[in-house]
Amino acid sequence: MVTPRILTPCDIAGCSLTNRLAVAPMTRVSATETGHATPEMARYYERFAQGGFGLLITEGIYTDQKHSQGYPFQPGITDNEQAQAWRAVTDGIHKHQGMAFAQIMHAGALSQGNRFVEVPAAPSALRPKGEQMTFYYGEGQYPVPRVMTEEDIADAIHGFARAASLAINSAGFDGIEIHGANGYLLDQFLTDYTNRRSDRWGGTVQQRMGLMLEVVKAVRAAAGAVPVGVRISQSKVNDYEHKWAEGEHAAEVIFGSLSDAGVGFIHVTEFEAWQPAFPASHASLVALARRYAPQVALIANGGLHTSEHASAALDDGADIIAIGKAALANPDLPKRLANRESLDEFDAAILGPIANIKSSELALA
Ligand SMILES: Cc1cc2nc3c(=O)[nH]c(=O)nc-3n(C[C@H](O)[C@H](O)[C@H](O)COP(=O)(O)O)c2cc1C
Repeated sequence: MVTPRILTPCDIAGCSLTNRLAVAPMTRVSATETGHATPEMARYYERFAQGGFGLLITEGIYTDQKHSQGYPFQPGITDNEQAQAWRAVTDGIHKHQGMAFAQIMHAGALSQGNRFVEVPAAPSALRPKGEQMTFYYGEGQYPVPRVMTEEDIADAIHGFARAASLAINSAGFDGIEIHGANGYLLDQFLTDYTNRRSDRWGGTVQQRMGLMLEVVKAVRAAAGAVPVGVRISQSKVNDYEHKWAEGEHAAEVIFGSLSDAGVGFIHVTEFEAWQPAFPASHASLVALARRYAPQVALIANGGLHTSEHASAALDDGADIIAIGKAALANPDLPKRLANRESLDEFDAAILGPIANIKSSELALA
């Protein structure tokens, strides 16, 4: 019997994976109030590795004791104690030959729960679209953030770098994913309508990429010789339909400049990753990332849990497929694929009323 391509080993920026299936980052607001990862979280993550996933990308972890925290009970990696709390998570993943990447994130204007500061900080003082997410303890409109100063920006960059160093050197992670997607701080700088700055951090799409590229540089220097990548999307948690204002030109600048910056991987996410990225052309965002960053390892995400769609994304140039909701329903999805067993349907009740880890998820197979 021929092994499906998705179950074949793969290298990502020098890190060997047993297969091409990753668990997508998913915030579960299940840390302690002080942002420490818990034994329950370790069991939750271990279950995916035990189920055969070659790569685990964590939920978004906040990076500093200022503006980065987005949610109550979100885990952080801002000091040695928080880093040590992740040890049980990485150990559990490694026990099953899984690789563990930490997703590090700064919520910016989309912060809806921060125990360090009262008012969120963002590129511009504009109230975010949409409403806070109730399953992360939010309610009503987002507050209007204050404009980040040069000092705030320097602090944010430093926070990402320190978090990366703690993740690799203290917590035992194998790689770093910088969250540049879904409407959070780095995406707020990238997006035309949330970044109205007239200084060097605003302007053209190349200028709006400036902060992301500075963060990549600082994180690469801090993390050392491990994979450092960036997650990129068009859509946002508070604006699902968003398309880059500059269309394919933006894709060229974004993927091209990340490639030039030496990222080890790019993680592209769309609602349905096989769909055309822009109305005017047939190319998916995966295909555009492959075109403009031809040498960079590529992770694709978004509705890719069927073998038909996963194969389409691999054909478009993806190296690895990240699975979100279907992994929650099937933590042993790689084993099921290998055994040609059917998948269970994702049941949204698992994320309600709060998106925290439920005890029903924790039984080890
Ligand atoms: C409960 C939940 C939490 C999520 N949290 C994050 C997160 O922390 N960071 C992130 O980049 N994406 C996050 N996402 C988005 C997922 O990584 C993924 O992009 C999305 O679920 C689409 O993939 P799927 O169709 O395989 O579920 C989250 C999704 C869900 C369902």
